[in-house]
Amino acid sequence: MPDVQITVKPNGPYVVSGEVVLLDSSGAPYRLEKTTIALCRCGQSENKPFCDGTHAQIGFSAPVAGP
Ligand code: FES
Repeated sequence: MPDVQITVKPNGPYVVSGEVVLLDSSGAPYRLEKTTIALCRCGQSENKPFCDGTHAQIGFSAPVAGP
């Protein structure tokens, strides 16, 4: 099993589990307090790059459900 796992949630975020370094557009690291984070895939989160649950409110529908 790899150290980091990324799960594509149906019509929801990418859930990243494991120790990762997440950098913003300037290369500065986010201070992550958990080893599992959800990254927004719908583009509507008020807390990008993190998911804030807005995908459920707007009825986000992912174009591809899986591989
Ligand atoms: S995927 Fe959850 S707010 Fe965008």
